[in-house]
Amino acid sequence: MSALVPSDGAATLDGEAPATLEVSGVTVSVSGREVLRDVSFRLAPGQLTALIGSNGAGKTTLFRVILGLQAPTAGTILVDGHPRARRNPMIGYVPQRVFLDPDMPLRARDVVSLGLDGHRLGLGLRRHADQRRRVEEMLGAVDALRFADSRVGNLSGGEQQRVLIAHALVSRPRLLILDEPLANLDLRAEREVVDLLGRITRDQGISVLISAHDMNPLLPVMHRLVYLARGRAATGTVEEVVRPEVLSDLYGQHVDVLRVHDRILVVAGADERLPAGLRHAGSAAGAAPHTERWEP
Ligand SMILES: Nc1ncnc2c1ncn2[C@@H]1O[C@H](COP(=O)(O)OP(=O)(O)OP(=O)(O)O)[C@@H](O)[C@H]1O
Ligand SMILES: [Mg+2]
Repeated sequence: MSALVPSDGAATLDGEAPATLEVSGVTVSVSGREVLRDVSFRLAPGQLTALIGSNGAGKTTLFRVILGLQAPTAGTILVDGHPRARRNPMIGYVPQRVFLDPDMPLRARDVVSLGLDGHRLGLGLRRHADQRRRVEEMLGAVDALRFADSRVGNLSGGEQQRVLIAHALVSRPRLLILDEPLANLDLRAEREVVDLLGRITRDQGISVLISAHDMNPLLPVMHRLVYLARGRAATGTVEEVVRPEVLSDLYGQHVDVLRVHDRILVVAGADERLPAGLRHAGSAAGAAPHTERWEP
């Protein structure tokens, strides 16, 4: 990896807190094609990290590797200092696509309680009471009490997202991973979910890793980002990573970084060697208004 891409060593973590997740030199090939190369980053407790990349950049693939659903070709992954394992209770996961059938007779609170280990294992009354309390607590934490008894398939996208977040959090994971939780939300729901994720990170002291095409909605709450392009990653704070030198190196093309009001746009420079369609990059590898999508 180039010297221009900031390394993400232990010194960048707050104090002496051990990393919740440590990804070191991870390379992944899918069907003989290298999707990720030498990706490294660490997550600290109480921090929200955005995983930014365009369609096909490898965000879901990276999550699958962290979750133990897919093996890396090279590299190591430690979760709270231990090698990752399938169905790791330390990790809560909200997948990219969840279809909740409106005909399914499942209330929001049922979905949340399904996230508890041993939910149906004939537990004693005491344990059942504790679990019910925990489910209520989580429904409250994501502000979902008012629709807790509605069929989950009938809820709006933003409401469903809250329920899925509560489902992932109810068993007290140390790391919460969400794959594009803002996709398909309108602006208001997007803001509400972003605020919620910021609050959860702070109040519960866990690490939260969120993938998105566009970093802008997450700017108010994110501490760090992992920016994926061409299979490689640049990691650090926004100030460290979202700089023309770092992103030009990552993309292998000259890019500029524009700050417009509160938004950051990553834009390919007016380089005549670039094909016309590649002269504009979207905001953080996503499409910005009036710019063409740039797929490197
Ligand atoms: N099982 C598979 N077989 C073949 N190719 C795959 C497989 N899984 C992923 N890929 C390829 O790996 C690349 C990365 O895919 P991935 O789903 O990780 O991207 P992504 O960043 O999550 O994209 P999106 O934003 O569209 O969700 C893509 O080119 C995809 O086609
Ligand atoms: Mg994906």
